[in-house]
Amino acid sequence: MKLYIDTANLADIEEIASWGVLSGATTNPTLLSQVEGDEDDIYRRICEIVDGPVSAEVVADDVPTMISEGQRLAAIDPRIVVKLPTTREGLSATSALARDGIRVNMTLCFTANQAILAASAGASFVSPFVGRYDDINEDGLGHLLEIVEAFAASDFDCEVLAASIRTPVHVMEAARMGSDIATIPPKVFHQMLHHPLTAQGIDKFNEDHAARLSRKDA
Ligand code: E4P
Repeated sequence: MKLYIDTANLADIEEIASWGVLSGATTNPTLLSQVEGDEDDIYRRICEIVDGPVSAEVVADDVPTMISEGQRLAAIDPRIVVKLPTTREGLSATSALARDGIRVNMTLCFTANQAILAASAGASFVSPFVGRYDDINEDGLGHLLEIVEAFAASDFDCEVLAASIRTPVHVMEAARMGSDIATIPPKVFHQMLHHPLTAQGIDKFNEDHAARLSRKDA
C-alpha cells in the first residue's frame, strides 16, 4: 500500500517526506484553510517536495465551472490530480477531464456503488472516507473493505485511496485488506512510528555502549 500525506502544511510535508515514505499528497479546502499563503503556490511547493500525485480540490458545483477549475488546477503542475466530489455533477466533470487526459480523484465517496460509478466515469483514484463513518457510529473500515473487494473483483483502472484516516489502526487495516493507497495526516504518521519499546531499547543500547567506553578508559 502506498502512503500519501493528507495536509497542506508544508513543514509537516517536508518532515514526513524526509523519512522517504511518501508516494503522494492530498489536500482539501479545510486543510488549505488551516495554512497561510496563495493556494497555487502551496500546490507548487507540495509538488516540489513530494514525488507523486498531489490532489487539489475543485470547489465549484456546476459542471462547466468544475471542468474549467479542474483544467486550471491541472495546468499548475503535471503531478496535480483534480479532486471532485462523488456527485452527479462530479461524475460528468470527471468524465470530461479524464477524456482530456487529466487525472481525477473522486472524493467524499462512502459506498461501493459510488466508487463503481467514479471508476466507470474515468476517475484515476477514488477516496472512500473511513473516519467520517466512524464519527456517525458506523464501521468505516467495513465500508472501505466493500470497495476494496469490489475493485479486486473488477478490472477498473482506478486506485482505492483510503481517506479520512484518523488512527494508526485505520492505516494497518487498510493495508491488510489491500487498499492501494492510504492518505494519512502528519499526526498519524508520528503515531505509526512511535513505540515505547523502540525508545527504551535505544536508551539501553546507548547506556551499555557508554558503560563499555568508560570501562575501557579506566
Ligand atoms: C482527503 O483526501 C480527505 O479530504 C481527508 O482525508 C478527509 O479527512 P477528514 O474526514 O479527517 O476531514
